Order: sequence, then structure tokens, then C-alpha cells
Amino acid sequence: MTQEDVFKKLISHCKEYGFVFPSSEIYDGLAAVYDYGQMGVELKNNIKKYWWDSMILLHENIVGIDSAIFMHPTIWKASGHVDAFNDPLIDNKDSKKRYRADVLIEDAIAKIDEKIEKEVEKAAKKFGASFDEALFRQTNPRVAEHTAKREELHSRFAKAMNDNDLKELRQIIIDYEICCPISGTRNWTDVRQFNLMFSTEMGSTADGAMKIYLRPETAQGIFVNYLNVQKTGRMRLPFGIAQIGKAFRNEIVARQFIFRMREFEQMEMQFFVRPGEELKWFEKWKQTRLKWHKALGLGDDKYRFHDHDKLAHYANAATDIEFEMPFGFKEVEGIHSRTNFDLGNHEKYSGKKLQYFDPELNESYTPYVIETSIGVDRMFLSIMSAAYCEEALENGETRTVLRLPAPLAPVKLAVLPLVKKDGLPEIARKIMDDLKFDFKCQYDEKDSIGKRYRRQDAIGTPFCITIDHDTPNDGKVTLRHRDTMQQERIDIDKISSIINEKVSLKPLLKKIAND
Ligand code: GAP
Repeated sequence: MTQEDVFKKLISHCKEYGFVFPSSEIYDGLAAVYDYGQMGVELKNNIKKYWWDSMILLHENIVGIDSAIFMHPTIWKASGHVDAFNDPLIDNKDSKKRYRADVLIEDAIAKIDEKIEKEVEKAAKKFGASFDEALFRQTNPRVAEHTAKREELHSRFAKAMNDNDLKELRQIIIDYEICCPISGTRNWTDVRQFNLMFSTEMGSTADGAMKIYLRPETAQGIFVNYLNVQKTGRMRLPFGIAQIGKAFRNEIVARQFIFRMREFEQMEMQFFVRPGEELKWFEKWKQTRLKWHKALGLGDDKYRFHDHDKLAHYANAATDIEFEMPFGFKEVEGIHSRTNFDLGNHEKYSGKKLQYFDPELNESYTPYVIETSIGVDRMFLSIMSAAYCEEALENGETRTVLRLPAPLAPVKLAVLPLVKKDGLPEIARKIMDDLKFDFKCQYDEKDSIGKRYRRQDAIGTPFCITIDHDTPNDGKVTLRHRDTMQQERIDIDKISSIINEKVSLKPLLKKIAND
């Protein structure tokens, strides 16, 4: 099965089991907008809780806020989004399809990378144990040719993006013979800038309605509340403000399911530091955030940093944490050293001072900021991609199982009476009633026990307990583990403590504490 097939299966699995539905589906959907179903919302809430607790509980100097989506329009002028939050777009005249010029070029670079990797794979197979990969990469003429082409393309691309040179972006597309994936032709328009913010109007037209924007990031809500929080919370530098909330972008190339959406959710934290100390904190937050990801156990080799070639208008250092999705390594989180750009500009545009008096230095200054910004939906997609598994069983059957980290699973425990009679459902109901205060349980008495296990595997429930005919006599149930499918008998009064220990966020948080 190709990775593309796996991805298609994952998307239909998400729909079939109530994780993600296309938005407005009965009206044929709305492009790049999705709804989370009964399972999806639980997983999403658990992801958000893991992030929130890792910020707020583990750091005494980080507090949270929840700012409004609507904000004064001048905020977006000050932040640079009105003038610079653009994508470079290009149209193919034959297919009439619109593309992001930078994405077309990035895809071409990825194709060259694939060619290099194929050469290496082929040689590794051919030479077996005696294969020296490093030497092969240095000396093979075909690899050298691809590498040289890649380097040249990459450096032209990076320069064009940094210089905002739209003509050069088009020229690169022409020179490297990049075709439209639909028409297969190279009949391209010029490259133009397109602003990604959605706008609407506030107030009645008679009163002169004000054009306002749906926020394209949650970060500005933090910046404009910086002084409120610093003063009322008596915060001393360095300190952070965290926020989870919706953001909106009129993405032109919206694709890859929930990877690039027009309405999505961000978890952002702005960490305010002394000027000059920002790069030290940037390194620190890079490591802290990578640790947060890796603690989930999805596979350490699935992550990598990608330092930016083109820095955003506000940053003096930036990196992405990328995750290996079924369609390659992709950005899940951005970590940016935003200097004092935002606070400085808000001071300029609002006329209000947003300074910090540093008692140790006995001076006031505008703090510098390190930002960590992660998309909830991309995190959701990375977890689902890593968890989705079709497993061949010894009896020849296949089971589809979501190997979700237990603390994030939508349902923690399924309670299953073996049969619908002989007093077993009553015992099962009593167990449900006792446990429902601790974690999410699901009761199921329909179909054979095997079918019920499969249903729970498919939604990633880490534990099932079965109440059978011995239970009324010995007070024990069978505990079945999702990943190993192993079963053990345990006392009813031990269920709560055994499951609680495994599904709690505490062990995860302990793994990443002490930073
Ligand atoms: N405040 C900084 C900021 O917004 P960004 O790199 O543009 O930086 C941060 O976005 C994160 O938000 C990304 O790493 C990604 O996870 C998520 N994100 C951005 N655009 C998205 C989209 N259209 N759909 C889903 N997630 C998105």
C-alpha cells in the first residue's frame, strides 16, 4: 500500500468512526473547513489539555488568557498582517487552477530529494551489507547531478523569497520546467501577492460600519494584553502568556485534509524576555517543545527541525518542528524569535507604552519575545497518522487499530458484559457508574465480544473489560490491552487505580517536567 493509499484510508476512517466530518456535508461541503465528531472532539480536547497543562502547570511563570477573535483593525496594521500577510499566487492558464508559487517550487525540490533517496535505496539493495552510504552520496555521479540541481534551485528560491521577488519566482518555475499537475502545461500567469485575512464588517452600514478581520493568529491577542497581564499578575521577566483559540486564513491552496484549513485552532505561547537574551531562550524553547512532542511516543525519528530560509517580517530566528505525515515531513509547530517587533509596533500605533521596568537593571525597555505556535489540527493529524495501523493477525484476519497514546484516547475504557442476560449487564452498569467520574468509559453489549473489541480498537480505546459468568462469583473481570491484545483477570475494585494510572496525563507531564 502506498503512503497515499494509507492517507486516503485514514481520512475515511476519521469519518467512519466520528473523528472528522467535512463541514456542511449535506450541502456538498465547504472547502478546507472540517467539523470534529464525537470521537474527534475528545481527542482534540485531550491534546489541548496536554499542551495547556504543560505550559500552565509546569511553569510558574506562564499564565493563560482567552482573548476575543474580533480585535481593533489597527492591530493588524501594526502587526504587519494588512501589508505583508500574503501568499505568492500563480495561475495555470489552461487548467485555470491557482497555486502558491512557493509551494510549486517546494514540491519540485521534494521531487529531487525523492530521486536522490531512490538512488541510495537502489544501491543499498544492490550492495547489501558492504554498502557505504556516505561514500555513495559523495561519489555517485547521478546523486551528484541531482544534488547540484537541488542546491541551485534551493538557493535561487530562498533568495527570491527573501527579496520578495515575484518575477524571479515565476522565472524559477519556467526555468525548472514546473508543470501544472492538472493540465500538465507550463502556461503560467505572472505571480501576484494575495492577502490571507478574512474580513467582515462591524456595526450597521448607516453608522459607517468598521471593516474588521477574523484573526489569522491568536498571538496578537496576547501582545495587546501584555501589560494587563504583567501588571495584574505582577509578572516578572522572563514570563509567558499562553492561549488556545481559533484562527482564520483564506488559504488558496487548501489541501491534505485538516493539514491546511481555512478555520483552524492554534495553541500559542509568547515568552517575554530581556533584549539580548532572546536567542538563548529560543534554543531553550526549541528543546522544550521537541521534548513535549517526543514524550507521546509516536517515534523519535518522526520529528525534525527545519530552520527557515525566509524569516517572517517579525523574526530574527525561526524554526519549524516537522512531523513525518503520510505525505512527507511537514510543519506542525513554529518557534519564532519575534524580537520586540510586535510590542514595539503596538506602542507606535496605539500611542501607549508597553514597557517593562527591570528592577535588576533599573531600566525600562520593550521586552523581546519567543513564540511557540502549534496547530491543534495538525497535531491531531500527526497523532492519527502515527496511530493508524492495519495489522495482520495470526488467524488470517486484519484488524484496524488506532494506537493512540492512552492519555489522549477519546474513550479510555470499554465496559462489555459478555452476554445481555444473567445479571452481567447490571454488574457492568454498576462499574460504569463508579468509573464515570474518573475518565471516559463506553458501555457496549451489542454483537459478539470479538466484534466489540474491533470497534474499540478502531477508535483507539486502550482498555476493555469484560464481565463474564465468573464475575458474580469471583468479583473479577477480564482486562484486555489494545496494543498487545493480552488479557488478564483483575479485581473489580482495582479497575479504577489500574486504568487511572495508565490514562492520566501525569506520567506524560512528569516526563517533560523540570525544564
Ligand atoms: N503566530 C505565529 C503563527 O501563526 P504560523 O507558522 O503561521 O505562525 C503556526 O502558524 C502554526 O499554526 C503552524 O505550525 C500550524 O500548525 C498551524 N497552522 C497555520 N496555518 C494553518 C492552516 N491553514 N491550517 C491548519 N493549521 C495551520
